[in-house]
Amino acid sequence: MPGNLLQQALEEIQKADTTTALKDVEVKYMGRSGQITELLKTLKDLSPEEKRSKGQEIQTLKTGFTEAYSTRERYLQKAEIDAKLKAEFFDITLNEINPTRSLQAGTIHPLSRMQREVEQLFAEMGFQIADGPEVESEYYNFEALNIPSHHPARDMQDTFFLDHPKDEKHGHLLLRTHTSPVQIRMMEKHGAPLRIIIPGRVFRYEATDATHDSTFNQIEGLFIDKGIGLAQLKGVMNEFLQRFFGESDIKVRFRPGYFPFVEPGIEMDMLWKRGNHSKWLEVVGAGMIHPNVLKAGGLDPDQYQGWAFGFGLTRMAMLKYGIDDIRHLHSNDLRFLNQF
Ligand code: PHE
Repeated sequence: MPGNLLQQALEEIQKADTTTALKDVEVKYMGRSGQITELLKTLKDLSPEEKRSKGQEIQTLKTGFTEAYSTRERYLQKAEIDAKLKAEFFDITLNEINPTRSLQAGTIHPLSRMQREVEQLFAEMGFQIADGPEVESEYYNFEALNIPSHHPARDMQDTFFLDHPKDEKHGHLLLRTHTSPVQIRMMEKHGAPLRIIIPGRVFRYEATDATHDSTFNQIEGLFIDKGIGLAQLKGVMNEFLQRFFGESDIKVRFRPGYFPFVEPGIEMDMLWKRGNHSKWLEVVGAGMIHPNVLKAGGLDPDQYQGWAFGFGLTRMAMLKYGIDDIRHLHSNDLRFLNQF
């Protein structure tokens, strides 16, 4: 009898073609007064021997039912989900049509974008783009740039030193305070002539305020060849600033400035016009590369000359977009970033 019951139950399980129909089969056999449940109830009136053999039969019946049931259940559930997915119309244009939903696409950070823009402009003028380490040695950051250890100019740039043993030749490790050490690395590696820009992050141990941050981005320029003078520097910077700011009548002027790695050293100012007032802003440090620096880079100063410049990309970005606080640029505040 239980054999037939199982047979019959299995057939019904196979016939059930929805999960709801399958549930009904379960109630019919395993529910509170289901057929298998009823069989179990009869056990209590049997003798111990009968109980044992009958009990085993019913157990086999139950197991057979449960296995078939769960296999069928999984099958039906999957089929139902598949059918639902197939029936669902997925409108990929929904975001454009429905104004209450907007696509949140990521964008390139304004500083990175500006850096690419600057790279592009200089590339068009024949400059290559170079790179150097952010963790530098005292040698490259200072010594080789004509700033010996007791030179007062070391204090012009407050430095983060790394807690690391001092090296015989290269001194302590530090976070580079400017991109100028890459000048030496490039001369050592490629010799002359050189026409490169070096964008990069630099670090200064300074209190931060609206115009100073302890991390900022610089662009270094380096032009080394035979018979180079400051006239080309003025021409290149003029061209660059006009293109970068998209204004054709940008004026620049040179003033003497002091940096140990250039001689003569100059500060370049840009005439900044807004509405009908204008003022000179100091934007670039530059000069003819000091003979000691050329020598440190392995070049002969009697053969080669060159100029170098350095400016703050961060500062240029602030001028171009009228950003009043440098700290916004590293805050990752979406209210700020979304404006770009
Ligand atoms: N390295 C200097 C600074 O960070 C800028 C500079 C670069 C000046 C090259 C002259 C030549 O202030």
